[in-house]
Amino acid sequence: MLIHNIGQLVTPRGGPQRGSRLGELRIVPHAALLIRGGKIAAVGPEADLLAAYPDEPRHDAQGKAVVPGLVDPHTHLLWAGERAAEFEMRLQGKTYLEILQAGGGILSTVQATRRASVEALMAETRPRLLRAFAHGATTIEVKTGYGLTLTSEFKMLEAILALDDEGPWELVPTFLAAHAVPPEFRGRAEAYARLICTEMLPALKGWWQEHANGRPLPFVDVFCETGAFDLEQTRCILETAKALGFPLKVHADEFDNLGGAALAASLGAASADHLVATSAADIRALAASDTVAVALPCTPFGLAESRYTPAKAILEADGLLALATDCNPGTAWCESMLFAMVLGCRAMGLTPAQALAAATINAAAAVGRADRIGSLEVGKQADLLILETDDYRHLAYRFGTNLVAWVVKAGRFFRVEGGISCTPQPFS
Ligand code: NIG
Ligand code: FE
Repeated sequence: MLIHNIGQLVTPRGGPQRGSRLGELRIVPHAALLIRGGKIAAVGPEADLLAAYPDEPRHDAQGKAVVPGLVDPHTHLLWAGERAAEFEMRLQGKTYLEILQAGGGILSTVQATRRASVEALMAETRPRLLRAFAHGATTIEVKTGYGLTLTSEFKMLEAILALDDEGPWELVPTFLAAHAVPPEFRGRAEAYARLICTEMLPALKGWWQEHANGRPLPFVDVFCETGAFDLEQTRCILETAKALGFPLKVHADEFDNLGGAALAASLGAASADHLVATSAADIRALAASDTVAVALPCTPFGLAESRYTPAKAILEADGLLALATDCNPGTAWCESMLFAMVLGCRAMGLTPAQALAAATINAAAAVGRADRIGSLEVGKQADLLILETDDYRHLAYRFGTNLVAWVVKAGRFFRVEGGISCTPQPFS
């Protein structure tokens, strides 16, 4: 399939982009892109490709812009229930951590998720995945963390793997048993952290070998925060996971600076996420490593807070910055990576080019897949978006509407209708 009549083909140049390189784009006007076997076989000026592949079936992009499929490297998309009442409580003055400490917050979603079957979890999550996909996210990381027992965490993983098999999206699973201290361990975070190290992680390894069909091991993540897991507990869990061969992520400095970011860097984690309260020293440590700093601007926005990830400081320190939605029922129920880009520009001072690179190639690096996705280069998977606009900057400039016309995932075409639903097209 040859996508022709592309008004503007836009892609990050090269691999993951550090510091001042963030936002280096290749922009080809009047472009075309050839897809063979789900991969990009050629990209370049339309005239050249039309001449080289005269008999190829064609898809007319109608002069619009084409960008890589967005990658959402941090979500909690799989859950049961909802928490609108808590949103109202927060607007009336309660804080997120107060609600969590009172047994609500994450723990109320844990109750609902424990009760739900795999099928029910899938049914609740599918429309969210569809919205994320229709808003341009072709690869989506999804965490467990609303089960907090071995069986309920495995139930979540089972649902994530089944939804990944369903597609058309590509899911990246993350094991987040260390998301909160479960009610059975109230006041005994230490004991629960030990259980994760001594029983859950070794069991996860065996479970994965049996159930995951040869997929690479999932990420292991920890919520390193006041009221969740402290730095030593986080270290113990991440070191154990690393010794077992799991790649790592960490939730660090969402509210308080506990040192999780520097720890993530020292352990070679793929990413450290949130980074709102991160100290200058921790930013330096992160920037000196290959750990991607994942900013989640929908979260302070969702919590109506004024502090965001200090993107400029991370870039000045030469760090790798990515964007994600953090989609979850508590702090940020937002499936749209486009909105994360919009906020990245408004609240973190990114340019549209930087926001695009942070949502594609750097986000791919945050899930360890930058060699396969995140940019439009020959040999990479054909994951791309045909927009409603002929200027990619509109993705950051306009907000509150969906500007994606077509999502192409591994060479399969999906028409986005009414901004929310996707219909696979017969030719693919
Ligand atoms: O990333 N901070 C921890 N986890 C989520 C919130 C999850 C929830 O409140 O359900 C986050 O913001
Ligand atoms: Fe999160």
